[in-house]
Amino acid sequence: MIGKTLGRYKITEILGKGAMGVVYKGHDPKIDRQVALKTIRSEIFEDESNREELLGRFQREAQIAGRLSHSHIVGIYDVGEDDGVTYIAMEYIDGRSLDKIIKDGVKLSIDQIVFITIQVCDALNYAHRHRIIHRDIKPANIIIVGDENKVKVADFGIAKLIDADMTIGKRLIGTPYYMSPEQIKGDKCDGRSDLFSLGIVLYELLTGKKPFSGEDISTIIHNIINQTPLPPSKVNSNVPHEFNNVLLKALAKDPGDRHQTGYEFINALRAILKEDVSATIPDGYLETIQNAGARIGLLEKIGLKGKFRKLLIATVGVLLVIMTYSLWLKKREKPIISPPTPPPVSMGYINAKSDPISANIFIDGHNRGMTPYLIEVSPGRHEVKLTKEGYLSWEASIEVKENETLNLFQTMKSR
Ligand SMILES: Nc1ncnc2c1ncn2[C@@H]1O[C@H](COP(=O)(O)OP(=O)(O)OP(=O)(O)O)[C@@H](O)[C@H]1O
Ligand SMILES: [Mg+2]
Repeated sequence: MIGKTLGRYKITEILGKGAMGVVYKGHDPKIDRQVALKTIRSEIFEDESNREELLGRFQREAQIAGRLSHSHIVGIYDVGEDDGVTYIAMEYIDGRSLDKIIKDGVKLSIDQIVFITIQVCDALNYAHRHRIIHRDIKPANIIIVGDENKVKVADFGIAKLIDADMTIGKRLIGTPYYMSPEQIKGDKCDGRSDLFSLGIVLYELLTGKKPFSGEDISTIIHNIINQTPLPPSKVNSNVPHEFNNVLLKALAKDPGDRHQTGYEFINALRAILKEDVSATIPDGYLETIQNAGARIGLLEKIGLKGKFRKLLIATVGVLLVIMTYSLWLKKREKPIISPPTPPPVSMGYINAKSDPISANIFIDGHNRGMTPYLIEVSPGRHEVKLTKEGYLSWEASIEVKENETLNLFQTMKSR
């Protein structure tokens, strides 16, 4: 495939291979930028009586995921089919997946692990507010950019193609290690299922072991549904015991017993880091967390060990109890860590049609799909552009009101 084209994209190298197919690095000559092209193995759609339906579902899922625009989410640019090969063009990330980092034996510090988890929480919180569930949170889908510790979550919404029993049609896909109990059972899933999967990733990063394992798939599945995992500090004595409760909650069988949102999970992690609780989320939280992370790193660097460390922790603990009690007596303050209420999601819609159909729709510079298409946008002014090969492109600035649908019909003029 190297040197060939897929749609308008020129394939330059292979980036990796997943259960769905090969991921290539490509070049978009129109926009002159690098892209990652995820191809879907043709046999996934072949010999399916419902091939058309599967393909349609796949395109819709990609369109929905393409609506997400967040600094910790790999952006989706385009979806298409060329000579029987179905592909998704997405943001190319020059980095390494967590999966590869683990396999390469890289030792991440506790601050790095927490910092990575918080960024994934942030991405999940954003997506969940837009009612999009990832469904396949695992180390292979968490990419670390260069060596900046900046995280990008890949493959949002794409896993929806895969049924709860991890099959497409009748073929088994991937491993169940990171699946939530409700996902395995085929029950209705919401964002809390992603947070469970993230809990497994966090557990594995901290301890080096997966919380639920087994010789074969049915044992792993049985353990996810029934087993309470060992507290992480028991698996690896280097893990601060404060993580035990956070992970016990994250890995609760009943979604109602878990952290309910990404922010709640972030707050639980912030509490472990004992950072300045006055910091607000989300503005500036990364900086605060980095500072807090540096503090834990400092404790580790000082290398307080054994009895002395325990004595110090006990003394600090007693002092904290006395201080907290006297503060409580003085004035009954609101809880130190209160999860911020996410703003309600209110959106508007652009119902974009064109003659001829299949024009690319760009909203504020992002390719959102092809006409005819109902696009969800935030209320306000948006730059809309329609392009189609052989036709003059059309642009306008459009005001979209909350909960209203703006009908757009454009006759494309040929060049
Ligand atoms: N947007 C991207 N930019 C750069 N590399 C990517 C991108 N998306 C995927 N990759 C790389 O391509 C490889 C294959 O990814 P793919 O998503 O197909 O499989 P996976 O996530 O490992 O497993 P699965 O197919 O079970 O989801 C991974 O090693 C990943 O690092
Ligand atoms: Mg992936």
